[in-house]
Amino acid sequence: MAESKPLVAVIMGSKSDWETMRHADEMLSRFGVAHEVRILSAHRTPAHTAKYAAAAQGRGIEVIIAGAGGAAHLAGVIAAHTILPVLGVPMESAALKGLDSLLSTVQMPSGIPVGTLGIGKAGAANAALLAISILATHSPELQEKLREFREEQSNKVLEQTVP
Ligand code: RP5
Repeated sequence: MAESKPLVAVIMGSKSDWETMRHADEMLSRFGVAHEVRILSAHRTPAHTAKYAAAAQGRGIEVIIAGAGGAAHLAGVIAAHTILPVLGVPMESAALKGLDSLLSTVQMPSGIPVGTLGIGKAGAANAALLAISILATHSPELQEKLREFREEQSNKVLEQTVP
C-alpha cells in the first residue's frame, strides 16, 4: 500500500531538539496522521528553510510545527514564507531554561502569526494535538479520535487514588 501524503510537517532547528520534538511525532503517529519530520535551521540553513516553507502548501502540507531553541527564529521564518498555520514549540534551553526560546518564538510582530505552545515536551505534544484539531475541522474521523483521547485522559484521572 502506498504511504499517505504528509499533512503535517514537524521541523526542528537541530538534531538536539529531537528528544523534545519526538513527542509531537509520537502524538501524530498515535492519531494516524501522516506527517514528515525534517531538521532545518533559520540560522544555519536559511535558504533551505525558506524554500521548504514556500513549497510546503503545494505538496499538500496543511499545518507546520516548528521547534527551536535559544534565539529561536525558526517558526517565525517559516511563517514568513507560507500562509499555512505554523505552530511554534520553544525548546528548553540550557542557558535560560527555555525562556529565551519562548520569547523569541511567541513575540511575533503583528502580521505574521505563530501559534506558540508551551516550553518543551508538553508543548511538543500539544502542538501535535492542536495540529490534529485543525485537521479535524474537516475530518469527522479525527474529531472522533480526539473525543476518545479526551475521554481516555479523563478516565485515567478519575481512576487515580492518592498513595
Ligand atoms: C537552535 O539552536 C536549535 O533549535 C537548538 O535548539 C539550538 C541549539 O542547537 P545545537 O547547537 O544543539 O545544534 O537552532
